[in-house]
Amino acid sequence: MRVQIAPSLLSADQARLADELAAIASADWAHVDVMDNHFVPNLTLGRAVVEALAKVSPVPLDCHLMIEDPDRWAPGYVEAGAASVTFHAEAARAPIRLARELRALGARAGLAVKPTTSIEPYLDLLPEFDTLLVMTVEPGFGGQAFLDHTLSTVRRAREAVTASGLDVWVQVDGGVGPDTIERCAAAGADVFVAGTAVYGSEDAAAAVAGLRRLAEGAHPH
Ligand code: DX5
Ligand code: ZN
Repeated sequence: MRVQIAPSLLSADQARLADELAAIASADWAHVDVMDNHFVPNLTLGRAVVEALAKVSPVPLDCHLMIEDPDRWAPGYVEAGAASVTFHAEAARAPIRLARELRALGARAGLAVKPTTSIEPYLDLLPEFDTLLVMTVEPGFGGQAFLDHTLSTVRRAREAVTASGLDVWVQVDGGVGPDTIERCAAAGADVFVAGTAVYGSEDAAAAVAGLRRLAEGAHPH
């Protein structure tokens, strides 16, 4: 397991996204939250903006689709240049078929679960995915408080990945910052999305370095 930090552009200055990407060149990914105002009560950006961001980003794009009908829309985000595309288990009609399509197009495929969704029914699908995203807040907005009960989901996801012998990443998203990242790492997360903790700080690069250090210190080796 290698610690990876994925700053979320949701908390960045939306009028200066290229500069905000340049500020996190030391991160592993740029996390891009796509919301459609249906799956979640918020609206962000879509394929055209992702395509523009992919052209200027110093790090690969990790697209988190909080949208209805990902079966229809997700492949377009690979075509737009995202290196990883994660869709929600609650929204997908045919998650295996969709994951295979994303991989065939050349991206990593991720499956996300909301904080109250049971992960167990999806653990048999591990071989089809590269990432499991455990939402640690209700999806839709940045800056929310971390939900502690989600750590048991992170633990169960990590146990299943370890038992499978597969190299599936366990990502956490929501309320991840200096006060919570160590608990996430100790529970078995290895990819850490952070919006407010990175873009809400004075120095984004320093925030990335600080989060990385904390996660590495708490990681079970
Ligand atoms: C929320 C998004 C997150 C969001 C996290 O639905 O999926 O990626 O940007 O923001 P923070 O880190 O501020 O909780
Ligand atoms: Zn996200």
